[in-house]
Parts: sequence; C-alpha cells; structure tokens
Amino acid sequence: MSLLTPAAPIAPVHEATTPPAAVARQGSSFVSEPPRLVGADLRVPTRQGAQVYGNLDHGASTPALFAVKQAVEATLETYASVHRGAGWASRVTSAWYEQARDEVARFVGARPDDEVLFTRTTTDSWNLLARALPDDAVVFVFESEHHSTLLPWEAIRTVRLPIPSSIDEALALLDRGLEAHLAAVRLVVVTAASNVTGEIWPVARLAEIAHSHGARIAVDAAQLAAHRAVDLAAWDVDYVAFSGHKVYAPFGAGVLAGPRDWLDAGEPYLAGGGATRSVSQFSTIWQTGPARHEGGSPNVVGAIALAAACATIARHRPAIEAHEAHLLDRLRSGLAAIPGLRRLQIFGGDADLVGVVTFTVPGLDPSLVSQALSWEHGVGVRDGKFCAHLLVDRLLGIEQPLTTAVRASIGLGTTEEAVDRLVGGVRRLVEIGPLDEWTHGASGWTLAAGDPRDPAAVLPPW
Ligand SMILES: Cc1ncc(COP(=O)(O)O)c(C=O)c1O
Repeated sequence: MSLLTPAAPIAPVHEATTPPAAVARQGSSFVSEPPRLVGADLRVPTRQGAQVYGNLDHGASTPALFAVKQAVEATLETYASVHRGAGWASRVTSAWYEQARDEVARFVGARPDDEVLFTRTTTDSWNLLARALPDDAVVFVFESEHHSTLLPWEAIRTVRLPIPSSIDEALALLDRGLEAHLAAVRLVVVTAASNVTGEIWPVARLAEIAHSHGARIAVDAAQLAAHRAVDLAAWDVDYVAFSGHKVYAPFGAGVLAGPRDWLDAGEPYLAGGGATRSVSQFSTIWQTGPARHEGGSPNVVGAIALAAACATIARHRPAIEAHEAHLLDRLRSGLAAIPGLRRLQIFGGDADLVGVVTFTVPGLDPSLVSQALSWEHGVGVRDGKFCAHLLVDRLLGIEQPLTTAVRASIGLGTTEEAVDRLVGGVRRLVEIGPLDEWTHGASGWTLAAGDPRDPAAVLPPW
C-alpha cells in the first residue's frame, strides 16, 4: 500500500491513503494511556535464562514508539529525492520533510521568528550554533553540563560558571557572572534537566536573568523533552536543542530551534549542495533559512520519525508524566531504603526531577553493579561519569574511593516490575554481593567462569 496521495486532487500514483503523521495517530489514539513502544517484550539472556528486558537506561537512548515505526515504514515505502525532484513522490517527500519541521516547531513552542533546523544530535546542534555565533560572542556555561553542551564553544570566549549547590545559587552565579564579564554579545547555555541527577533547572528564571543583562540563552532539552513540555515561548528562551534518540525516535536526527538572525548570518555549517542559492567561478551565494545549514541530502526518514515522536509525545503528555512520576516515586523510595546507598544531587532537598536517579553503594564498583544487574536480573542501567566528568567528580567528592556511579533512568519502556527487579537486585548486591565470581581486567568486569552471552553471535538484522 502506498501513502502518496493526501487530500490532493491530482491523480494518484498508487492507491490513496494518508500521510505518516496521520498513520502514526491511528496507532496511539488513547491519550489517557502512555503510547505503545516497539520491542516492549524484548527478552534478554540472564543467569536464569531469558527474561523480559528491564529498561532503566532511557537517559542514554529510548526505544522507538510504535507510531514512529509506522511513520518510518510509510516513509520508506514512498520516499524519493527531497527538495530537488519534480516527480510526485519527490514532492510528497519534500512536503513531509517540511511538515516534520512544522511539527517540531509546535513541539518546542517556537515563535514566528524561530528557525527549526534538523541536525544529527544535540551535540551537533550546539556545534552548529557555536559556528554561527557572532565573532565577539562570549558563552557562559555551568561546569555541571554534559560535555556536548560544555565543550563546543571556543575556549577563550567561554566563561565557566561553578557548579551551584542550590537553585538560588545557580541564579545568583549567573547574575554575578554576567555582571562581571561584560561583552557586546553574550550567550548563556544551560541544561533543562541534568543527565546525571535528573534535576530540573529553572530555565525560565535563568532566561529572565540572561535577558536582563542583554544576553541570549540556549537550553539543552536532551534529557527533558521526552518527559516534560519544552516551550521556547513560555520559557522566553532563545534556543533549544534535543536529540531524536532520546524522544523515542531512532538515532541520527536532532533539532536546533531559535531566532534566525545569527543562524542566517553565520557560516553554513555544512557547505555543499542545497545550502547554496547560486555558485559562479567567482562567488558563492548561500541560502538563508534551514537550507543554509542543512547542506547535502537531509535525513528525511529521521526527521519524519522525530516529528512522529514529537506529535505522539505531545498528545500523550499527561499520561507520560503520570506513568513516570509513579515509577520514579517507586524507584526513589526503593533505593532510599537500601542501607548506605547514596544518591547524587546537585541542588539537594526535593528538587523536581525527571526520571533519572544516579547512585553509589559502599564497597561496590558501579561497573560491577551494572554488569551484575544485567546478568542476574536482565536490567539495563548505565555506569560511569555520563559525559559530565566535572559534575560527577564534584558530586562524588575527592575523598570518595569511587570515581564513577550507577544511573537508573525511567521512561515509557520501564515497568513497575523492572523497577522492583532493579531495587531488589541492588539490595541483594549490597547484602550478599554478586551471585557469581567476577574478575576485573582491561575490558572491565567479566564473569570468572566465562560469559555464555556473546553479542557478536546474535545474527545482525540483514
Ligand atoms: C543533557 C544532555 N545533553 C546532551 C546530550 C548529548 O546528546 P547526543 O549524544 O544525542 O548529542 C546528552 C546525552 O546523553 C544529554 O543527556
């Protein structure tokens, strides 16, 4: 079945049906329930045989929404060249690509003067913005940021603000920092939710401070967008970036949205076809608008998938928030009852959180904890410094013997039962240790008796 003919009166190439966004809607029309995911019944090998995967690793990447899969399939059935072809399939593909942009614009609360650019990831979005900044711009960034948000800016034009201990201190540090470092053009870059602690940053209040000093503000919504609303207009924030693979769409598509003036004046991010208006032997005139920075054939399938994810999340937002609040509550109280377990926090107290909890347990290497949770319980978590070395070092403290931590992160793929398996697994590790002997070598912890699981032996899907 083809999807090439929306309401257009032009003779169809194949039989008439609906565009992918509409298809996606059919799959998940119950707004009172969280939307369905692909692979929700995935089984993984464990010590006891195959178990349903306990996914507590959404902070890294999320599984795909069913609506996204449908949109991708519909796109694969029909796609043709984008922005270049006169053929009907090319025109439909181009229209869907631009409609995907519009969907994302609605998702982030974009204003009429904002541009929405499709990038590869949040990292890519910030690198693009860094390249488009006016030459004299100075960037202000908290040391607690994810490396993708901390590092893309030219070092000598970056002011690093120390990690605050409270929300009030974050506001004061920004205010004082902007007061002390005068420059004609200034940009504050800050996360909306920490990928280490899940704590939600007061972006609207930070925006107010930035603007009172004549600075702009860019918000990293990579950890927030799947869990809470993103709203450029309501926050009065200038730029926002996030990644498809953290909002239940596949890897490879991200977003940068914000005012078009700097973007239109900046050097094209990807010089090449599609980014040019005209080329002669003597000069190149570049496009303005998204095309300026989206040189080469764009990731149409990724953009449509991302738009389908945004539409689905926006429609199910209350149900998603309720589902995650319940699981987070269960996770936090379960972990809090484990003797000695320490949760990492920036602001402390009862700061509002997305579903991310990072912790250490005395005497247990975080990497062994995550390996044992996978082997003994089929639970997926992450351990390490989560690409936020300065923050993790600071939160662990120098006197800590441990230099890394374990992160459990909740999303639509997490069940109550998986939370209980994780909590029970950590408790057992604390009380009696791992059930098998592990050795530590160059590739980390491995089962002393040999690991019967071999990911390389799983047939690739082609
Ligand atoms: C808060 C935050 N910002 C940025 C990123 C980078 O995202 P990506 O790897 O998609 O560029 C991440 C990824 O973990 C993140 O959690």
